[in-house]
Amino acid sequence: MTVRVTHDVRDAVAALRGGGLVALPTETVYGLAGDARSPSAIAGIFAAKGRPSTHPVIVHLPDAGVIDRWATAVPHWASSLADALWPGPLTLIVNRADDVLDAVTGGQPTVGLRVPAHPLTLEVLRQFGDGLAAPSANRYGHVSPTTVEHVMAELGEVLDAGRDVVLDGGRCPVGVESTIIGAWDDTPRLLRAGAVTALQVAEVTGREVSIADGGVRTPGTTAAHYAPTARVLAVEADAVPDALNEVVGPFGLIALSNVLVPAIDHVRLAAPANAAEYAFALYAALHAADDAGLDVVVAVLPPDAGVGHAVRDRLHRAAISGARP
Ligand code: TXA
Ligand code: MG
Repeated sequence: MTVRVTHDVRDAVAALRGGGLVALPTETVYGLAGDARSPSAIAGIFAAKGRPSTHPVIVHLPDAGVIDRWATAVPHWASSLADALWPGPLTLIVNRADDVLDAVTGGQPTVGLRVPAHPLTLEVLRQFGDGLAAPSANRYGHVSPTTVEHVMAELGEVLDAGRDVVLDGGRCPVGVESTIIGAWDDTPRLLRAGAVTALQVAEVTGREVSIADGGVRTPGTTAAHYAPTARVLAVEADAVPDALNEVVGPFGLIALSNVLVPAIDHVRLAAPANAAEYAFALYAALHAADDAGLDVVVAVLPPDAGVGHAVRDRLHRAAISGARP
């Protein structure tokens, strides 16, 4: 049976209290949420996603005030960051409190925390009153969902129709996953690019942001992620004519609206006007490419500024993992 879609926060809270899972909207992508204190709910999330159980999940909080229930020895600069940018597309990896489940942290000494900026999900979190573990609501290794339709295509038949629900909050306005900042010592570390930029983090904290991850384990930020079935060619704007010479047959194209494209037959998947629109459109365009059965997507990289940095990051990953046999 197909899982039920609801617009009612009370349905979502009831499902969570009953030990069930809720696919819910955030400003970045849809998440698959369960009680972060419940081993069986966490196990259910991993089973639904088909995700290795050693991967840590982000705990979503109703506000920054409850951070000490989950974390210990939070650096002062990280608290300032939380105060300045939560609710928002920022995850902080901090030293875990003793009672945080190993299933949540992947056995690591740290836990990922964030307060998402979506009115429906904030209301769910307030009514639920505690942390919700939520990875993106896609099957393991697939493109993250930014609409209820994507969630249903990924998990509609996988979730338990008698127990779980999908909360419809419309389309996710940011469109790419949160920025992840390592925040366990004196140095902010950028572990995953997102709409919050390293520059913003540096401005708020007054600290230099380390871009190299220094061998920190953040599964899900490595290759073989963010890829559609179609092969993705990520190309710079000035290399478009050369790249198109290599493509045989119909292809999908994602590019900023001001990029000049040779008159070759193609399917225009998105023509965003700026980097923010590019992030918003990106995953829906990749889903659309697969729905249309396209073999190749040419994605023209946006300039490396603002959320454009995160878009470039995701496209490079999609291109690497798409280069499979
Ligand atoms: O925007 C987002 O962050 C979305 C929405 C639903 O909040 N969530 C999301 O979750 O993207 P997920 O599980 O798909 O990606 C979370 C990333 C993974 O790469 C995971 O390895 C990393 O966060 N992560 C979580 N906790 C961690 C920890 N304690 N140490 C290192 N990395 C961690
Ligand atoms: Mg994910």
